[in-house]
Amino acid sequence: MSISPIIFLKNVDSIYEGESRPTIKDINLKIRRGEFVYIIGPNASGKTTLLETINGLVRAIRGQIRVFGLDLKKNSQKIRKNIAYMLQTWDIEPDEPFLVKDIVMMGRSGKLGTFINPRKQDWELVKDCLEIVGMLRHYKKPIGKLSGGEQQKVFLARALAQDADILMLDEPFSNLDTDSRSMVLDILRNYKQRKNATILVVSHFLSDVSFQIDFIDRIVIMQEGRIIMDGSPDEVLQSEEYICLKTNRS
Ligand SMILES: Nc1ncnc2c1ncn2[C@@H]1O[C@H](COP(=O)(O)OP(=O)(O)OP(=O)(O)O)[C@@H](O)[C@H]1O
Ligand SMILES: [Mg+2]
Repeated sequence: MSISPIIFLKNVDSIYEGESRPTIKDINLKIRRGEFVYIIGPNASGKTTLLETINGLVRAIRGQIRVFGLDLKKNSQKIRKNIAYMLQTWDIEPDEPFLVKDIVMMGRSGKLGTFINPRKQDWELVKDCLEIVGMLRHYKKPIGKLSGGEQQKVFLARALAQDADILMLDEPFSNLDTDSRSMVLDILRNYKQRKNATILVVSHFLSDVSFQIDFIDRIVIMQEGRIIMDGSPDEVLQSEEYICLKTNRS
């Protein structure tokens, strides 16, 4: 059995197209299969950029990245098929015509390939994922007609439908009330146990999940494009870096 990390970054700098300086710098990160990692930090600290560097959407100009043991540079498409990525924002207009069921089916596109029609079992999986997030009743509704929280749950269902080994969720709680946050954490816990999946969640603060902190294996703090703290919840919560982050916020 391989003990190499499922996500491995060594001395990575990455840069957006058209920019002259890297946005994230000297990133060293090793994540093992089955870990639940929470990435926190203030606005513009590079959290989203880190996720998009891991799935190859933002270009690394220095260092090494391996995901599933594969070199990201040579295998980015293959790697992305097995990483479900839930974006932070979607900019959905109220007249957006896509139906909820079709949005969730997009999660299957990597497995289906182009020009292959979804099979009965794909539609069943779509229904199951909508049921899990409590949105099955909106199956045939246009996505633009849902509330922000409902849309967020539908996008989570799409990520689950991909059935990937790594889930990366960018601010998945931002539109959710307390009960829904708790529901989403339960969903993630079940997903992780069922598949031994690796889960990365990005959030500004820990307050989203402070009531279920036991579930988190590791917390990473980012600031100004760098990782300034990486450890168990116990270590991080007592660290100066975390206390500083909390103080600056209040
Ligand atoms: N497409 C882009 N092109 C150039 N710079 C970008 C782009 N997207 C983000 N940035 C810059 O990169 C920096 C880090 O942004 P990033 O989105 O990673 O921050 P974040 O920690 O996710 O912030 P937030 O909590 O606000 O979501 C910011 O200064 C931002 O302006
Ligand atoms: Mg972000």
